[in-house]
Amino acid sequence: MLELLNLTKEYRNLRAVDNLNLTLQPGEIFGFIGPNGAGKTTTIKMIATLLRPTSGEARVNGINVVEAPEKVRSIIGYMPDYFGVYDDVKVWEYLDFFAAAYKIPRGERPRIIDDVLELTDLTGKREAFVEELSRGMKQRLCLAKTLVHEPLLLLLDEPASGLDPRARIEIRELLKELRRMGKTIFVSSHILSELADFCTTIGIIEAGRLIAAGSVEQIIERTGIVRSVEIRATAGLEKVESLLRDVPLVQEVVFEPETDKFQVSFNGQLDDVADLLKTLLDNGVRVVQAIESASDLEEVFLRVTKGQVA
Ligand SMILES: Nc1ncnc2c1ncn2[C@@H]1O[C@H](COP(=O)(O)OP(=O)(O)OP(=O)(O)O)[C@@H](O)[C@H]1O
Ligand SMILES: [Mg+2]
Repeated sequence: MLELLNLTKEYRNLRAVDNLNLTLQPGEIFGFIGPNGAGKTTTIKMIATLLRPTSGEARVNGINVVEAPEKVRSIIGYMPDYFGVYDDVKVWEYLDFFAAAYKIPRGERPRIIDDVLELTDLTGKREAFVEELSRGMKQRLCLAKTLVHEPLLLLLDEPASGLDPRARIEIRELLKELRRMGKTIFVSSHILSELADFCTTIGIIEAGRLIAAGSVEQIIERTGIVRSVEIRATAGLEKVESLLRDVPLVQEVVFEPETDKFQVSFNGQLDDVADLLKTLLDNGVRVVQAIESASDLEEVFLRVTKGQVA
């Protein structure tokens, strides 16, 4: 669905994107993670045909973005990091405008507008003026706009930036829905933990270079950091600590009374986590939750971007 071959962009004397190579299969959800100024927006704009690469190539569904930009535009949905909304335009008119720009016949537009409004949970705002929407709603409207022409590849540049935690979750749910619909998604963020749980693969970019790519699992393994697993149980709590301490891979067990969770530092792979849970369950502990803690992912990100991982 997407292929980047030594994609490079130079601004005067700055190499903002440096020989990027990447392949995305249909249905893949790729999280593009990097700090400010890493080159995320520049990369996305080149794929979206809005910025000409200095060298290298980008192909969407086999089509070269420089040779046939019009064709590429018809199959991508681009959500920029900043977008304006127009005054005195209603939500449905805004969508109708973009649908018309994509040359969707007038008669088909009302159905499409209804569909994308429903998907983005904006049906109730159909007649509202765009400038009256909250920031989260505007962001969802912008996402709705990128969907009107049923694109195959979505390019979303920090779709959740500047939103409160609840609105971020809403965007995430929306992305999951799009994943279920079979879209291929290229989504950028500063925050690895925000994307980790629903991306099939991630890439970490810094100073224009892709410094790590693969599944979250692969990247964690490569960093060699100690995992930390959060475990919450409703019964058998007394036993948990001693059971865990008997597992050779466990380094530390801390109970956090505020959250009612055990924080387990653990030196194993994912399969070992499964074994550890089985031990607890076999011994009558009622485990209700066991997740890799998010701090791990931030640690991975910090290590990778500090150049500690090749
Ligand atoms: N039009 C431009 N002219 C000159 N330099 C630019 C231009 N646009 C971006 N840059 C530079 O290119 C580099 C990459 O910028 P880019 O916007 O792609 O980063 P980003 O990863 O999207 O960052 P952010 O997380 O802040 O959005 C930065 O050093 C930036 O200053
Ligand atoms: Mg950016």
